[in-house]
Amino acid sequence: MPSQPSSRPPVEAVIVAGGFGTRLLPLTEHRPKHLLEVGGVPFLEHQLARLAAAGVRHVVLATSYRADLFEPVLGDGRRWDLRLDYVQEVEPLGTGGAIRNVAAALGDDPHGAVVVLNGDVLSGHDLPAQLEDFETRREGREVDVSLHLVEVGDARAFGCVPTDSAGRVTGFIEKSPHPVTRQVNAGCYVFRRRVVDLVPEGRVVSVERETFPGLVANGALVVGYVESAYWRDVGSPDALVAASRDLVLGTAPSPAMPAQGASARVDPSARVDADAEVADGSVVVQGAEVGARARVLGSVVMGRARVGPGAELVGSVVGPGATVGERVRLDGVTVGDGAHVEAGASVARGDRVPCGTNVPAPR
Ligand code: GDD
Ligand code: MG
Repeated sequence: MPSQPSSRPPVEAVIVAGGFGTRLLPLTEHRPKHLLEVGGVPFLEHQLARLAAAGVRHVVLATSYRADLFEPVLGDGRRWDLRLDYVQEVEPLGTGGAIRNVAAALGDDPHGAVVVLNGDVLSGHDLPAQLEDFETRREGREVDVSLHLVEVGDARAFGCVPTDSAGRVTGFIEKSPHPVTRQVNAGCYVFRRRVVDLVPEGRVVSVERETFPGLVANGALVVGYVESAYWRDVGSPDALVAASRDLVLGTAPSPAMPAQGASARVDPSARVDADAEVADGSVVVQGAEVGARARVLGSVVMGRARVGPGAELVGSVVGPGATVGERVRLDGVTVGDGAHVEAGASVARGDRVPCGTNVPAPR
């Protein structure tokens, strides 16, 4: 983190992590996307380490889908010298409903700052600088909400956020087929604590479709914080593999990565044959095996998965406990938990192999 926040009340944070992760199926059939290893580390660890580095000492995780799986992995936050609380929605409340639902777990200073992170974004932006900007009054007014904004080539999958010449947000249009700007919501907000209580309670609310457009229409002071540091939403297999590779190679910064800039990251408990090649930012997770002459390039081999001799993986993910047979070639393929790709089988580029299935060799 380039700078530390100066004198201001303690900043708290909320991570919204209750989505189903549908775009990451089959990897999310048994776990939330937020716990998938990216760069060899459960994804949320990158976010928790970043928040801690920015001086945040209290984080509330807003969970829903497979809520029980978070605490055994992340614990009470002491690893990051912060307090980590969990608030589970009985039914998913949407991004805004999730934020409102954790209000009671937050401090009650109405002027306090609450950082809100989408739980699937890997970002290198300067969060302390965003907080500093949030605390900068405009024309005698305190900022209500600050949104980190980035520019993308194709804005259709994101929230478009036009701003005026003073950086004030003038609209919020979620996932439009006809984007009005290439400047999009990067999924890191700072809310004034009192604004959290303005979100309706006890029902589904989308912060993107309801809260932000409503705040802007009602004259709230919503500002954009534009920064072009590394940024990626890891919500699809391609993006997850790319982010993992970037973390290992060191192009994506993360205080949760012990060593960056190596060609690969292999867990000490994994067994990689001396004649195998694991490179181009690949990760081989706990208990996995890679056989002789196998090549694993820019790929992720998850826990207890087995890659057979002579197999070749490029930009692929092999899910926990899955096996890839001898000399099988996978390019951009996602293999679900416990699936088996037999020796001699062929899987088309970009395919997804469902959990527990068998891809046979042609007979
Ligand atoms: N607790 C809870 N409850 N969390 C939820 C719920 C819910 O009902 N619905 C979604 N989330 C969480 C997801 O788990 C994820 O961490 C975050 O909210 C954002 O949801 P995504 O499903 O990943 O949204 P997106 O990627 O399509 O779009 C969002 O992110 C873009 C940037 O990556 C939007 O915020 C866009 O405006 C933004 O541009
Ligand atoms: Mg997303």
